[in-house]
Amino acid sequence: MALIAPSILSADFLQLGKDVDMVNSSAADWFHLDVMDGRFVPNISFGLPVISAISRQAKKTLDVHLMIVEPEKYVQAFAAAGAHNLTVHIEASTHLHRTIQTIKAEGMKAGVAVNPHTPIHLLNDVIEELDLVCLMSVNPGFGGQQFIPQTLKKIQQLRQLINESNSNALIEIDGGVTLNNAKTIIDAGADVLVAGNTVFNAADPIATIAALKQL
Ligand code: DX5
Ligand code: ZN
Repeated sequence: MALIAPSILSADFLQLGKDVDMVNSSAADWFHLDVMDGRFVPNISFGLPVISAISRQAKKTLDVHLMIVEPEKYVQAFAAAGAHNLTVHIEASTHLHRTIQTIKAEGMKAGVAVNPHTPIHLLNDVIEELDLVCLMSVNPGFGGQQFIPQTLKKIQQLRQLINESNSNALIEIDGGVTLNNAKTIIDAGADVLVAGNTVFNAADPIATIAALKQL
């Protein structure tokens, strides 16, 4: 049974409070919050004030995924906004080890995200420090894209690295997760499934979250 993290990127921003309550009352485990800066990824989403507002109403872990350049500049600010998990991209942080330490010093769980083209072995020297690895199963920037099948092989490689290094890191899969492929992704070794389009464009989001949770 995996943890389920609905991605608020696919919520209806005109009625965000209603969608936050829907997730609160569902079987979901985390809120997945995608911050995009229009530089690291070709899209701009939402930032600190929106996360602060969500944190006042959310009753579950806030899992914040930074798709921004120089994420180290904003670690304290996201802690103050209510983030519980803070994930930065390996491709965006020059001094990644230091960034991870700063996230943990601020009392948050530290995550690193890797793009589809980034090999798992680049995590070798930080894996023991991490609480979470977010494997991008689409190129980041947009919801509703197709799952990249190569990710399944990367999940297995990451599971092997985690086992060999005595790391406690959770494996999170982000992008293109559907009711059709979720079981295969869990069987490959995923601990956390992010789901945006699959949850928020479903006729019954609560039932869809329950169905993902039961896999
Ligand atoms: C993509 C984001 C994802 C996105 C997933 O850049 O990081 O979290 O919201 O959306 P779906 O589940 O629709 O692919
Ligand atoms: Zn994400």
